[in-house]
Amino acid sequence: MDTSALGLTTTKAPFIEDAKAKGELYIRQPYELYTEQNQEAWRRMYRRILPRWRKYANPRFLEGIDKLAFDPERIPRLEEINTFLEPLSGFSAKAVSGYVPAYIFFDCLRGRAFPTTITIRDVNTLDYLPEPDLFHDIAGHVPMHTDRVFADVLVRLGEVARTAARLSADLPDEHARFRRAESIIKALARFFWFTVEFGLMRSNGDLKVYGSGLLSSYGEIAHCIESPDVQRYPIQLEWVVNQYFEIDHYQPLLFVVDSFDHLFRQVDELERWMLDGRLDNVSPGEPTINEQDMRSFLEATTATND
Ligand SMILES: [Fe+2]
Repeated sequence: MDTSALGLTTTKAPFIEDAKAKGELYIRQPYELYTEQNQEAWRRMYRRILPRWRKYANPRFLEGIDKLAFDPERIPRLEEINTFLEPLSGFSAKAVSGYVPAYIFFDCLRGRAFPTTITIRDVNTLDYLPEPDLFHDIAGHVPMHTDRVFADVLVRLGEVARTAARLSADLPDEHARFRRAESIIKALARFFWFTVEFGLMRSNGDLKVYGSGLLSSYGEIAHCIESPDVQRYPIQLEWVVNQYFEIDHYQPLLFVVDSFDHLFRQVDELERWMLDGRLDNVSPGEPTINEQDMRSFLEATTATND
């Protein structure tokens, strides 16, 4: 079989399978491997979502796509994006082969790097994809990183994750360490989900989208603003950290911030709550924290003396 025909299609890319088999997390973006079908997937998704971005996305995101000079016709090259992005906020997009364990992910954010998938969904299944792909990561996330305050929110989340790793290490017995880490990671994952991935923001009296899960979804970006089936509430930390979520359908409950400064203050508060022990026993339920994520936090403790 000629595997080059598969190019860099999500879940079917030989280049990615090779990298994973070799244990390589950070990789290059082998641009020459994108097939015409891969480019067509980008073109179709970009073209159809652009009018919805103009209608529903927050203004900083729209400025972001201009500043990054996205080409509607071609999949972006990370190198080129980074030359525009780095001077604006110090952030860069860093190509990865796949799943990044939670602590390593947050620690990348602390270092102003955003782990980025380089595969793209199959041109025949543009609507639903359980795995992240470059349309989600590059078109949905990266434009937000052009905003300095939003970028600082991500860095601050990375710092909070480091605090979490330290706190978990403080407990004498393994069982207690495990329990605390599990609860805190759950709280962090929920916060990330309801803000960075699915957040709404009030903007000049209107409700706009800043969460990347919404920004990269042609259907949900309209649904989350227009549908009477969605509950939208001002963000409340005690609710967010105790609220389970499911990833395989449109979100029925979303939280609204007033500004990115407001969001930043929420992250500060999240850390205070953590230090006060208020995240040690959050409500059970989704997301389940897998062993890799747990280990990434528990093993991080020896390497966080800087
Ligand atoms: Fe994401």
